[in-house]
Amino acid sequence: MDPHPQLLESLRRAKHVVVLTGAGVSAESGLATFRDKQSGLWEKFDALELATPAAFAKDPPLVWGWYEWRRAAVLRAQPNGAHKAIADMANAVPRLTLVTQNVDDLHERAGSPSVLHLHGQLAHPYCEHCRRGYEFRSAEMSNLPQEGYRMEPPRCESCGGRVRPGVVWFGEPLPAAEWHAALGAAEAADVFFCVGTSSTVQPAASLTDIAIEAGALTVQINPNATEVDAKVAFAYRAPAGEMLPQIVRRAWSKG
Ligand code: OAD
Repeated sequence: MDPHPQLLESLRRAKHVVVLTGAGVSAESGLATFRDKQSGLWEKFDALELATPAAFAKDPPLVWGWYEWRRAAVLRAQPNGAHKAIADMANAVPRLTLVTQNVDDLHERAGSPSVLHLHGQLAHPYCEHCRRGYEFRSAEMSNLPQEGYRMEPPRCESCGGRVRPGVVWFGEPLPAAEWHAALGAAEAADVFFCVGTSSTVQPAASLTDIAIEAGALTVQINPNATEVDAKVAFAYRAPAGEMLPQIVRRAWSKG
């Protein structure tokens, strides 16, 4: 699919580009999304049993094991063309703010050093009591579980409290600094990309509306229809790993 000339021109002139990503940006790296039919995690698993503070309180080994299984999948995955194209775009424009709902580190591994993780990170668990960060030991890294594995969460080295996954669960607030930075970026964006997200989870999804209201040129990249299609200037029904490299190549002959 050819990127529209107006988009390419706006990108070349843009002072501030904002990219909001969701699970779809990592789909071509082999990581499951949440809501895709058949392959989505929330099609197979019950979010209420795995992704809430109450779920962790009720059955810590179930929840910890599930997140360790997902962390194992991320460790085995490699960044794809979409992650790399965003890193290339950051080198081509004066300013790029990358906001992700993803808990993996594939943006960082593709060369994006500064990523606003609205929903936390699998690699950064912390003590549920004193909130001190927990460092995985190398033994834990090489002994990663399979799907369905139950695993006792480690204990905090400082206070002995239970360590919890470093992700934002349903019912929890977003990290305030990341959220405010994302909000400010959406309000200041010249071009705003919404990539690989179903735009169903708030408040992250509202960033696209905020960018539209603030006058940004908005673009969605998603092989499937979403409610955002009707709102954005350009909606590309294409995989991010194909469309984003093409946009960067055509705008700046890169990648
Ligand atoms: P979803 O699973 O809700 O949406 C993923 C989107 O990616 C869908 O709209 C797909 O059509 C699209 N998609 C699939 N393959 C793609 C590809 N190759 N290129 C581009 N798009 C593709 O995931 P999110 O919107 O990220 O929250 O979900 C938001 C939040 O809900 C997640 O951060 C997670 C979940 O519960 C927490 O973990 C707190």
